[in-house]
Amino acid sequence: MRNVDRAKQKIRAVIAGSRVPEDPRHADNTLEWLLHLDPDAGDALQLAALAHDIDRADDVRKVKRADYDDYDAFKAAHARNGAEILRPILNACDVAGDIVDEVCRLVEVHEVGGDPCSDLLKDADSISYFDGNLPLYYQREGWAETKRRSLWGYRRLSARAKEFVNKICYQDETLMQLLREVIHEGIH
Ligand SMILES: [Fe+2]
Repeated sequence: MRNVDRAKQKIRAVIAGSRVPEDPRHADNTLEWLLHLDPDAGDALQLAALAHDIDRADDVRKVKRADYDDYDAFKAAHARNGAEILRPILNACDVAGDIVDEVCRLVEVHEVGGDPCSDLLKDADSISYFDGNLPLYYQREGWAETKRRSLWGYRRLSARAKEFVNKICYQDETLMQLLREVIHEGIH
């Protein structure tokens, strides 16, 4: 097995231990969306897609929302911490140094993007939030927080990614109403 594939297995095993119920599916679903957006995405991008939220799987080291007044500051700390947790895991799997550096860089900027690769990762992550996470997030957090989080996620999507989210359907009419409001408010 290639080192990169062993690293993917290790990342999946770590994220399987997350207390956030949507995390394991979100990791693979983000990878699937990445490959949908760019079928030629390389090893570094694929590893970053799978591992970008690894911070949430580490109960001791994970960044806590309650410690931050500002949501963007919380997200930046989450991304930075994820890269720090990930680096020794990749090194232990003997992933090549240049790939390790690029994966950690991508994870560190996955919330904001800024270059073609990290923009792809940000889109895949954001689409996957709507595709998989939102219903579970709503169950846990309720209408107001889910709408705030969703509007934040929708606004950071590229125009191409918005097209995918605009077509998402939920069985629950309340969630459909929430998505309609987010799309309506998010385009202005
Ligand atoms: Fe994510």
